[in-house]
Amino acid sequence: MPDTLTITDNRTGKTYELPIEHDTIRAMDLRQIRVRDDDFGMMTYDPGYMNTASTKSTVTYIDGDRGILEYRGYPIEQLAEQCDFMEVAYLLIYGELPTQSKLDNWNESIRQHTVIHENIKEQMASFRYDAHPMGMLISTVAALSTFYPLAKGVRRHENRMLQTKRLIAKVPTIAAFTYRHSQGHPYTYPSNQLSYTANFLNMMFKMTDNPYTPDPVLVRALDILFILHADHEQNCSTSVMRAVGSSEADPYSALAAAAAALYGPLHGGANEAVLKMLNEIESVKNVPDYIKRVKSGEMRLMGFGHRVYKNYDPRARIIKRCADEVFDVTGRNPLLDIALELERIALEDDYFVGRKLYPNVDFYSGLIYQAIGLPVTMFPVMFAIPRTVGWLAQWQEMMEDEDQKIQRPRQIYLGKRERQVVPIGQRR
Ligand code: CMC
Repeated sequence: MPDTLTITDNRTGKTYELPIEHDTIRAMDLRQIRVRDDDFGMMTYDPGYMNTASTKSTVTYIDGDRGILEYRGYPIEQLAEQCDFMEVAYLLIYGELPTQSKLDNWNESIRQHTVIHENIKEQMASFRYDAHPMGMLISTVAALSTFYPLAKGVRRHENRMLQTKRLIAKVPTIAAFTYRHSQGHPYTYPSNQLSYTANFLNMMFKMTDNPYTPDPVLVRALDILFILHADHEQNCSTSVMRAVGSSEADPYSALAAAAAALYGPLHGGANEAVLKMLNEIESVKNVPDYIKRVKSGEMRLMGFGHRVYKNYDPRARIIKRCADEVFDVTGRNPLLDIALELERIALEDDYFVGRKLYPNVDFYSGLIYQAIGLPVTMFPVMFAIPRTVGWLAQWQEMMEDEDQKIQRPRQIYLGKRERQVVPIGQRR
């Protein structure tokens, strides 16, 4: 059986045979389909890229119907169970899990870059006291590009690796400073004796000169949350990272753009929206009424549904387990009961079952972040820290991919044509 697709254009009666590779045809092969010689040729129309592969990739595999997520071929459940975040970061960037000595070197090479320039710190201090932490993170990451002008040399692998390490090291520092700023507290500098996640908690919560010892259960929970959020193939923000990167912009500018895409409530801002929703519902007894309003189209059930998963999001299952361990240390988040009731009713309801809407990664993560003591405005920032690794892994892959070009989609133009400009005084 030949690996080809035969298309008949009923406008002309002509038949075309297109090669199929990886169950895909190349969009450019459609361009030969035309009625007249001067036609532009056939295109596909795909708003939101519902069915368009923009790249070949070896980073993350998702089978949305079966609820499978793998990084570089390793199931997310095993990575969350057996690895810490830095091992997974190494895996995403280099493609293989590290040996102990490689992991030690990797940790050391990240630690060398955790401090940010004092001018950046001062720039952060000039934000208003109530600035949204995500807005601060986005603009501060963009500002980093002015400190590293050599980062523009994106064609050199060594240079890309240096900027990759810098970003993985500095994003948690900036993230913690956004929190300290919103609290009006002095910034706590990175402590390089601590692990990546323990250092982050230290920068967030250490208040005085007294040593702050983060609870190991919380450190582990944060490792798990970071692992689950580290990559998710060609999602909205990753596509932005690739789109901006495709113009050969420096990675700080590209990553700031990716973080901006993550900020929206339909993407990484959903965990913030979930907490707002749970607060608005207020009590378990109000859940049925809320579900009714969702079904009538008044609003969406935040933290539910996913473009790719048409089954339970495997990350949500792991987070739900993790939440119980965190609540043993922090005390139970009272909003959990509302979340559990929402999930219970939704999973039995024809509206949600029929549309294959299941809890996604954001449904429970906010409850953990809140139990750890974070305000809701920090939730998207907590998503951006680990996703930085995914964005960079995908950016590196794109920069080495000979198929990639500057991103430039087509449009179907339906506007007016060839009008004559009337002088302003004669216009009606
Ligand atoms: N609540 C109620 N109805 C929903 C929801 C929801 N959360 N999500 C989708 N639907 C309905 C939607 O109204 C539509 O119904 P109908 O066919 O009757 O018009 C149907 O399900 C298909 O929805 P869609 O909007 O075509 O699906 P999509 O793939 O374009 O959207 C989504 C995916 C994640 C944007 C959407 O499910 C959503 O808005 N969810 C809430 C926001 C959220 O939790 N986002 C986090 C995503 S996971 C973290 C991440 O990767 O960033």
